[in-house]
Amino acid sequence: MRRASKPDPLSYVHTLPTSVSFTAKGLLGYSFSPLRQHLDVYHIESEKGHDTFMVSRKITRTYYVISGSGYFTIDNRRYEVGPGMLVEVPPGVEYCYSGKMTLLAFATPRWFSGNDRHTRWNPDVVGRDAVRELDRETWGTRFVRMQVFGKSLVSVYLRFNQHLWNRLPPSLTALGLVRLYGNFLHALARAENVRGQAFSTFFLRNRPELDLICRLLEQKSRGNTLRIAVLACSTGAEAYSIAWTIKSARPDLKLIMNAVDISKQAVEFAKRGVYSLTVPELTNTRVFDRMTASEIEAFFDKDGDLAAVKPWIKDGIEWRIGDAGDSEVVDALGPQDMVVANNFLCHMSDSEAATCLHNIARLVKSGGYLFVSGIDLEVRTKVARDLGWRPVPELLEEIHEGDGCLRPNWPCHYGGLEPLNQKRRDWTLRYACAFQVGSATAAGTEDENELARNEK
Ligand SMILES: C[S@@+](CC[C@H](N)C(=O)[O-])C[C@H]1O[C@@H](n2cnc3c(N)ncnc32)[C@H](O)[C@@H]1O
Repeated sequence: MRRASKPDPLSYVHTLPTSVSFTAKGLLGYSFSPLRQHLDVYHIESEKGHDTFMVSRKITRTYYVISGSGYFTIDNRRYEVGPGMLVEVPPGVEYCYSGKMTLLAFATPRWFSGNDRHTRWNPDVVGRDAVRELDRETWGTRFVRMQVFGKSLVSVYLRFNQHLWNRLPPSLTALGLVRLYGNFLHALARAENVRGQAFSTFFLRNRPELDLICRLLEQKSRGNTLRIAVLACSTGAEAYSIAWTIKSARPDLKLIMNAVDISKQAVEFAKRGVYSLTVPELTNTRVFDRMTASEIEAFFDKDGDLAAVKPWIKDGIEWRIGDAGDSEVVDALGPQDMVVANNFLCHMSDSEAATCLHNIARLVKSGGYLFVSGIDLEVRTKVARDLGWRPVPELLEEIHEGDGCLRPNWPCHYGGLEPLNQKRRDWTLRYACAFQVGSATAAGTEDENELARNEK
C-alpha cells in the first residue's frame, strides 16, 4: 500500500499514519509506507482478533505483541502470548490470532493480491453462533471447505479447472452440458471461498455503462439538477469517471454527486484525487489501464509521476464515509436520480448482499435508475424481481460484458461473472446491470415539475 506523494528521501522516521489503513470485524490496522525495504510493517489494534484463519502462500508474517494478551492458533495448536513476545508464521501454515492486543506485524515480501487463502472463520471474532450458522451449511459446503494436510482439495480442483476453462474455445463453453459443469464449479467456488473486500477500481471501468448513463440523461431537460450517488466509490476512479462523462455530455445540468465508501482511507484518497501514474496505490490495480493517452490528458493535471483530477471534474462531488447497508446513510443522502453500486456486493454473503441491496434501492427516487454489477446474479435477480425493477434493455449485453476483469474469473472464483445466456427465460432480468426503479412515469413528471419551477 503506497501513498500518492513521492517518498521524501530524507524520511528515515515514520510516524503512525493518521488514518486507518484496514479494518475487519475484530481489528483495525495502520500501515507504515512507503518503506525502502521489501517489507510491510503494520500497527494492529486487535479488539477480538482476526476474523478468519488463513494460509499465506509466500509471505512470512512476524508479530510482536506490544501490549494486551491473547493467543495464536498455529497449525491447530494454541500459543498464549503477551507483551514482549514474538510470533513468526511461515508460508503454508494455517493460523489465526485472538485477543485484545496491540501488535506490530511485519510481512516479507510485501503483501500482494492472491497471497492469502482464508480457510475458516474465527469463532472468537464472528461469534460461535455465526460459525455454527456457517457450519450448518449443507454437507456439500462442508466438503468443499475440507482440508487435507492443510490444503483445500476443492481449491486445487478449482484452480486446475479455471486453468483449463480459460483455454477452452467459447464455442465449447457455450454448450449446454459444459455450461452446466461451469455452473457446478461456480457453486463450489461460492461455497469454498471466504470472501474479502478490496479497493480494486479503474477509471472508465465499464464504458457501455457510461454510455447508457449519457443516453438516460436525454430524459433530463436543459438546466435541470441531476442527483447521483456512487456507492462503494473506493479511491474515486468510478465517481470521477461518471462525473467526467456527465459533465462532458451535458454541461448544462447541475450535477450533485455523493460518493460514499465504508473505508475512511479510501474516501480520503478519493477526495484528494491525486494518483501516481506508475505505482498502484491502495489497490493492486493499475487504475489508468482502461484510458487512452488523450483521455488521461483531458482528465488530469500532470506533475511528474502524479496526476491530479482537474478541478472542473471534482467540482460538485461530496465525499462521504458510510455503509451502503446502513439505513441512516440512505436517509441522509435523500432520493437520487441515479444510484451506482458496483463491485462490492459480491464480497458479502447472499443474505447480507440482499439486505444491503434492499437498502440501496430506497435511495433511488421513483422512476430513477439503479446500476448494480459485481454481485451474485441469483441475489440481484431475486431482489429485482421482488421489488419489481424494470431492466433497461439498452446496451444490456454490452454492459454485462463491459468490465473485462470479471469474466476470466468465472466459474472458479465466487466473484467471476457468468457468461450471458440468452436461452434462459429470465435473461434480461438476470443479466441487466441497469434498472428503472419505481414508477416509470415518475421521473418525467418530476423533471417537468422542476422545469416548470425553473421557468417561473
Ligand atoms: C472493489 S471496490 C469497487 C470500487 C468501485 N465501485 C468500482 O466498481 O470500481 C469495493 C469497495 O467497496 C467498499 N465497500 C465495501 N463494503 C461497503 C459498504 N457496505 N458500504 C460502502 N462501501 C463498501 C470497499 O471499501 C471498497 O472500496
